[in-house]
Amino acid sequence: MSDISLTAFNLPRSIQWSAGELYLLDQTLLPHEMVMEKQLTIEQVWQSILQLKVRGAPAIGVAAAYGLCIGIKNHIELELNDFKNLVHEKATYLDSARPTAVNLNWAMMRMTNHMERIDASTPSLLYDALVEEAELIHAEDRSLCLGMGKTGASLIKDGVGIMTHCNAGGLATSELGTATAPMYVAQSLGKKFKVFANETRPLLQGARLTAWELQKSGIDVTLITDNMAAHMMATGNIDMVIVGTDRVVANGDVANKIGTLGVAILAKYYDIPFYVACPSSTIDMSTAHGKEIPIEERSSEEITTVMGKNIAPENIQTRSPAFDVTPNELVTGLITETEIIRAPYVQNLKKFFKGKKK
Ligand code: MRU
Repeated sequence: MSDISLTAFNLPRSIQWSAGELYLLDQTLLPHEMVMEKQLTIEQVWQSILQLKVRGAPAIGVAAAYGLCIGIKNHIELELNDFKNLVHEKATYLDSARPTAVNLNWAMMRMTNHMERIDASTPSLLYDALVEEAELIHAEDRSLCLGMGKTGASLIKDGVGIMTHCNAGGLATSELGTATAPMYVAQSLGKKFKVFANETRPLLQGARLTAWELQKSGIDVTLITDNMAAHMMATGNIDMVIVGTDRVVANGDVANKIGTLGVAILAKYYDIPFYVACPSSTIDMSTAHGKEIPIEERSSEEITTVMGKNIAPENIQTRSPAFDVTPNELVTGLITETEIIRAPYVQNLKKFFKGKKK
């Protein structure tokens, strides 16, 4: 099979870097408008991550790597040591934009570790080397997507119904997505299948983004609300679930968009395989258990409003955890760029990373 890309599916790229300039597709405007917004400062990139203009674990990591370059490029007149301190400071700043997706921290660590490892004699050379590293992270993310696509496509049998939650698509990455990559590859192999996209309250990434990108690419997609998931499973429409993830930890517990845990529990009840597509950049071997994953709490307006319109009484108390953690025993397999990892996760994740540099 020849390599396939987003452009073959008529889809835009969420991140563009050219001649030292960063453009992000403003995903808060989708599906109505497609606007590439130029990022002029590191503060703007931080806000774009917080406001979900760029979102999805891998895309956040790539955007932050370039964002760091934007934050340091006007400081190359500093002394080398002062410049290096500034790079650390800016990386810590960008890392603070959102806590749950490990790719953000992973990308910042990778950039600063690279800086410490190389022997650049001037800030200007260091800046060039960091741009190259950011470009490498971006290129690697593309091939991780294709890898997951090839690994996961074998699981998609002709005629199946697949449920997905949130958007782990091309928009959330640099290429074919994570959860959607097996779907794009299966589609290009001519397989017939249906995708059911959960709308994903409160911010509707399933409706605004997944339904949009799959429909645009020609994949058979049906939008449902989150509370229809059980009914769809009970009535035999769903043969498998594939979701993405913001962080898989060493015991195989999986953080993903709020609502994923409910879908996993339902899948267990109805004996439906529950797969998680995750590139190695989203696996955090330094955290032992899912309960240690920091869960982002977002503003109450995201609960009390829908697309800017108030739907709740004034001053109502709210909670807004953006992610939940699915325990490893509900996970049938982790679709990575090279293999499907299955239980026992502690041993098999260790084996996966043996020989890989992390
Ligand atoms: O809040 P978001 O939209 O950034 O949440 C995104 C998700 O939960 C995705 O499923 C996850 O990041 C995987 S993206 C390939």
